[in-house]
Formats: sequence, C-alpha cells, structure tokens
Amino acid sequence: SIQACLFDLDGVLVDTAKYHYLAWKRLAEELGFVFTEQDNERLKGVSRTASLEILLEIGGIKLDDAAKQELAERKNNWYVESITSMDETEILPGALEFLKECRSNGLKVALGSASKNAMLILNNTGLTPYFDAIIDGTKTAAAKPDPEVFVLGAKEVGVPTENCVVFEDAEAGIEAAVRAGMRSVGIGSPDTLSRANLVVPSLQQMSVSRLAEL
Ligand code: G6P
Ligand code: MG
Repeated sequence: SIQACLFDLDGVLVDTAKYHYLAWKRLAEELGFVFTEQDNERLKGVSRTASLEILLEIGGIKLDDAAKQELAERKNNWYVESITSMDETEILPGALEFLKECRSNGLKVALGSASKNAMLILNNTGLTPYFDAIIDGTKTAAAKPDPEVFVLGAKEVGVPTENCVVFEDAEAGIEAAVRAGMRSVGIGSPDTLSRANLVVPSLQQMSVSRLAEL
C-alpha cells in the first residue's frame, strides 16, 4: 500500500515549468538558435548544468567550463526574476487540495525536486508547511533520471521505496521513480510520460482513493 507521496515541484505543484522554458529559450536565441517546446521536454526535471549541456548540444555549440558557468548564471538570473514575485495563485489546479488530502489521510508528503530555487518557490507560494521532508537540488549530487532525490525523500520520511508514489511531469523524473523502485503518476500527456503507472492531466484529477489504481 502507498504510505508516502513524493512530489516534483516545477510543473507538478507550481506553474514554473513555463518560466524555465522561457529563460532557456531566451538563452538559445542569444546564442543564435531556435529552441522549441519539444526540445524543452528533454530539459524538464533535469538539473541546471545538465540542462545547459543538452541545450548546447541541440545548438551544436562547444564551450569551456567558465563560459558554461556564465550562461547557467545568466539563465538563472532571468528565472529568479520570474519567481521572486510568485504567490499562491501560481499553485497548479488541484495541488493544494491533494496535498491536504494526503496529510489528512496520514500519508507522508515529500518534495523531490532538482531545483536549487525550490525553497524560494515553496515559501513564496505558502507550500512549505505541507511537507514532512524537502529534498531539492541543494541536497543531491546526481540529477534525475538518477533516483537519488526520491530515495533520499523516502529515507527521510521513513517509508520503504515500494510504498512510495512519485508525481512527475518530466520523462526524466518518471525514469528516476522507476529506478528507485517506486510507482509513479505522470502529470501531463501519456505520449511523453508512457512509463508512468497512471497519467492524469493535472492533480485536479487525483485523489487518495485513486492511489488504489496504482
Ligand atoms: C526542475 C525543473 C528543471 C530545472 C531544474 C533545476 O527539475 O524541471 O527544468 O532545470 O529543476 O532548477 P534550478 O532552479 O536549480 O535551475
Ligand atoms: Mg517538473
């Protein structure tokens, strides 16, 4: 049975996936190539440095480490600009209700995000108090699809991996859940999230009773 729910942040609980995309797209434009929404699927859930590597590969650009560092910083500054003014209106439909339902049913709730900006987002949207454990990009060494972020989350809430379910909007995140030995719910389209046990358009379609379908 499911005893813990592990949530990705960007694109699952909050509407920040669009800000990440806009910032990467802007960077690609400055570098002189087009970066499509389809290209962006490969970046979802992936750490900042790993995302930049993929972006540069798409653009066919080779750079040294110092130049890469500068570009990653430039992207992050634009991104942080978009999220500093965020508030609870940018919580995605159904997310808050489902978090509350999980807690009132005695399920453990953990965050499993690659983002180093997670605390800023959680605090700005008022979501911080809903988590028993918060694992973000400041606490992990390996990026999704490595399972580390979810394995650490399960450990911190004291639930065996086979009793955990991961909520993810990214292919890399579903893959991380599979490698962690966890079940997964994809948030988005079944086309991109085919490996998830269940795919729903948003957390609005999710409820504790539906966890029995997994
Ligand atoms: C999330 C997003 C990614 C982002 C990563 C790192 O997983 O889905 O698009 O690249 O976090 O975020 P950060 O805020 O640290 O750049
Ligand atoms: Mg995500």
